[in-house]
Amino acid sequence: MKFSIIGGGAWGTTLGQLLTDNGHEVLIYDIKDMHVEKINHHLHPFFDTTLPQSMRATSDFKEVIDFSSTYLLSVPTKVVRDVLKKMNTYLSQPSTFINVSKGIEPLTSKRVSEIVNEEINPKYFKGFVVLTGPSHAEEVILRKLTLLVTASDDQQLASDMQHIFSNDAYLRVYTSNDLTGCEVGGAVKNAIAVISGACTGLGLGENARAAVITRGIVEIVRIVEVMGGKKETAFGLTGVGDLIVTASSENSRNFSAGKKLGQGFSIDQIYKEQKQTIEGIRTIEAMHDLAFKHKIELPMIEIAYKIIHNQVSMEDAVTQLLSRDLKSEDF
Ligand SMILES: NC(=O)c1ccc[n+]([C@@H]2O[C@H](COP(=O)([O-])OP(=O)(O)OC[C@H]3O[C@@H](n4cnc5c(N)ncnc54)[C@H](O)[C@@H]3O)[C@@H](O)[C@H]2O)c1
Repeated sequence: MKFSIIGGGAWGTTLGQLLTDNGHEVLIYDIKDMHVEKINHHLHPFFDTTLPQSMRATSDFKEVIDFSSTYLLSVPTKVVRDVLKKMNTYLSQPSTFINVSKGIEPLTSKRVSEIVNEEINPKYFKGFVVLTGPSHAEEVILRKLTLLVTASDDQQLASDMQHIFSNDAYLRVYTSNDLTGCEVGGAVKNAIAVISGACTGLGLGENARAAVITRGIVEIVRIVEVMGGKKETAFGLTGVGDLIVTASSENSRNFSAGKKLGQGFSIDQIYKEQKQTIEGIRTIEAMHDLAFKHKIELPMIEIAYKIIHNQVSMEDAVTQLLSRDLKSEDF
């Protein structure tokens, strides 16, 4: 089968290799000519690895749209709407959209499936599926064992993609019928990873990290439920699983961005240094708006929002969290 990958960064290129390993044909599109060039020289744009000979990339948007009718979206969430608007003008047949970006749209707090529904002309829409779960591109590119989840409102599509992405060597995919829960879990865990990194940057220890991860799960559950997903999903691969891999690893850009925050760097300095996507910071902003709108309690995300906007210092943030009313451990 043929796949058009939009976004040839760390994850999009890595999934291109996975699909190629599984016997499929891929064409990758990226706005950065340098990424296109590297992929066409069989090099990963970010990792020191050689890509399969048959993988190709292009800077020509029309070429990638005409290549197939199955589009894997691997761009930062903040640009997904613009990319879809552009796609709409080139599409000519009912198409399938696979989203692998893990974020919530800033300002609207919308999930990518909602953005696809709003932007893609219904006559060009065949189906939507999210592919998510605990996965560092750095490990998948080395073909290290990884479990993922495909979630869709269309169970046949989730199952078809489960088989397409799975292999016997290193990749196993489960299906889920909770599209909302999977999309939200994958996005919010990045916000918690920033907070976990901030604690490490501040010099707090492993006790604090365990506390952030565990109470982070409580915040993820609250958000999943208010956005219409299932609580159980938050305890699976796309919630707790992804949180574990992200919130304790230097491989995670979200954790590393948080660590810099904890060390006293400003958001502007962090964005300047890190050219790759940091979804967690924007997700903190989106979740702050959501908490206000739905009146849900998200103490860590709220305090992280204040830190990002220079309304409170890291040290005062910890004091504010600790001085909240004492209560029982519940959801
Ligand atoms: N890196 C990982 O391990 C990983 C794993 C799972 C999910 N994700 C998610 O995948 C998404 C992409 O992450 P990444 O790590 O590949 O980020 P990245 O920054 O490495 O890659 C994003 C790519 O999108 C390209 N891009 C930006 N705007 C574009 C546009 N308008 N049209 C086409 N291409 C455009 C950039 O040039 C870049 O190559 C994020 O939402 C991330 O959370 C990443």
